[in-house]
Amino acid sequence: MLDVAIIISGSGSNLQALIDACKEENFPARIVKVISNNPDAYGLERAKKSGIETEVINHVDYEERQDFEDALDQSIKDSGAKIICLAGFMRILKGPFVNRWKNRILNIHPSILPAFKGLHTQERALEAGVRFTGCTVHFVSSDLDGGPIILQAITSIDQNDTADTLNAKVLELEHQIYPEALKLVASGRVRVSENRVRTEKTTFANISVINPLISK
Ligand code: GRF
Repeated sequence: MLDVAIIISGSGSNLQALIDACKEENFPARIVKVISNNPDAYGLERAKKSGIETEVINHVDYEERQDFEDALDQSIKDSGAKIICLAGFMRILKGPFVNRWKNRILNIHPSILPAFKGLHTQERALEAGVRFTGCTVHFVSSDLDGGPIILQAITSIDQNDTADTLNAKVLELEHQIYPEALKLVASGRVRVSENRVRTEKTTFANISVINPLISK
């Protein structure tokens, strides 16, 4: 059983998907702490409802980014978590923290990386006229939205889609692949080599997942 800490900033719908997955029988991970930099994040309520320990570590209370990241680090260490999931965490993590937790921080991003890193991804997808969008679960590196990719899922963009309809479609996929990705990692079926994720052969829920590389 792998102990996980989740860091959020907002609504926490991905957190909810992870909470629900962890309640399933034989799920190989359990959430030991939810940390938010935003004291008003609804995700904190979701965690409390499920009896999960919460903590607010507000970045505005720290003058230096380094001190904020050290506080996060300490809190996660205290929780005993061995892995971190960022779930709608709206701060950028850098250098020492990311290095300390190398290949042990997962993030979900609402685009098919490496396309549309950063914010406003669906607006930019529409502007670019691409035919597909989706989401990516990846390990966090110091390169923004640039770490090794664990899982991706796609959906098509229709003529009358708006940023809102796309956000909703993609969010639904996020809720499916984030638990799948955590399951893969927590069951030890993921390894990273040369910045790419290799996974043991596995089956996924019935969703339009672009499989990760399958090693023989
Ligand atoms: C999601 O779209 C996620 O991809 C992005 O932030 C959003 C968070 O939503 N990183 P929620 O807080 O999980 O509902």
